[in-house]
Amino acid sequence: MKVSAVRALFAVANRPEIVSLAGGMPNIHDLPLGDIASNVAEMILTNGAKVMQYGSGQGEPRIREQICDVMALEGISAHPDDVMISAGSQQGLDLVTRIFCDPGDVVLAESPSYVGAIGTFLSYQAEVVHVAGDDCGIDPDALRETVARLEAAGRRIKFLYTIPNYNNPSGITQPWERRVEVLGVCRELGILVVEDNPYGLLSLDADPVPAMRSVDSDVIYLGSFSKTFAPGFRVGWVLAPHAVREKLVLAQESATLCPPVFSQFAISTYLEHSDWQGQIDAFRTMYRTRRDAMLKALADHMPPGTSWTHPIGGFFVWVTLPEGIDAQAMLPRGVDARVAFVPGAAFFADGQGARNARLSYCFPPAERIIIGVERFADVVRNELDVLDIFGVRAPTKHPQAAGPGAETY
Ligand SMILES: Cc1ncc(COP(=O)(O)O)c(C=O)c1O
Repeated sequence: MKVSAVRALFAVANRPEIVSLAGGMPNIHDLPLGDIASNVAEMILTNGAKVMQYGSGQGEPRIREQICDVMALEGISAHPDDVMISAGSQQGLDLVTRIFCDPGDVVLAESPSYVGAIGTFLSYQAEVVHVAGDDCGIDPDALRETVARLEAAGRRIKFLYTIPNYNNPSGITQPWERRVEVLGVCRELGILVVEDNPYGLLSLDADPVPAMRSVDSDVIYLGSFSKTFAPGFRVGWVLAPHAVREKLVLAQESATLCPPVFSQFAISTYLEHSDWQGQIDAFRTMYRTRRDAMLKALADHMPPGTSWTHPIGGFFVWVTLPEGIDAQAMLPRGVDARVAFVPGAAFFADGQGARNARLSYCFPPAERIIIGVERFADVVRNELDVLDIFGVRAPTKHPQAAGPGAETY
């Protein structure tokens, strides 16, 4: 585990004059706080002794049933016995890694992949090997080649970690056919799939593509209420084949005794008494406006030679900068120009991503996003001017990549 060299810059990035397109915080300002407060108050008054007590290591039975209803919206048919509650899907990731990975094992991941997952895998001394992809996600041929190369070298692959919906950070969604193809390759080669899907219901254009777990019950599936409700409760879940689920509960008990009981009951109450699906629709409308503002601002302002993804859901756009620009070196100049972003290198374990940046449209309102993208475009243009004049950008001292911890969500 290591502290990021750019953490100090992110502290600066939180200053109000800076437009931060860096953080992946959900915008939860519009939640019905009055309703939530009165339902939680009622819950404490009627059931306080239970909701503030220790609970089951697997999680409370009622919320596990409700989670099965939530997953059904993405085509998953599951039994509550196969669900384990975790403290956010981040803890689910940690426990899955803990039970599967020994030092030196390999975890396969998309190119790029979620910085918080890379940090977890590395903390168990697993090696993260990225599988090349295209604008439909993981390339099945590249997956085959990577597995063959690793196996020929005697390496032990523990699983493929994938975010098929609106990948963090790339914003890419794997279409249905690609999911089936990737699952087919994994089944043929005996590779376990871990599907991480915290953003699935936040589709912005059409209904979500069914989850990989909907066709293959051997897939380990991670879900979360962080993006569709609120991250502060720290409630996520893992759906896993029975034998894996049993081990996960043992790992959960040794980690925390039980996942947060009060939060589970609070979310259960929210699902029972509030129009949570209506709230998700409201979130989708709000994020759609912000996504559209960002895409239009990019089209209006970015210099030639820049490209970016067009997410159909989630929070993120992945920008590829013109040849010669190093996003990590550019970050201090971005902060100087009052805009923050996450350099692409944070989302790779192997030094790729120098020309990339992740821009988030989830948190600032549309008018701020437009200002932020204008500033970002100006910074890129300045880098290009310097490149034009001197042929190479004056190096900035950056001892290490913006690894896990730079901006974890
Ligand atoms: C892809 C992905 N997985 C997992 C998480 C962790 O979310 P949480 O622990 O809040 O459920 C995040 C958070 O940003 C994420 O983007």
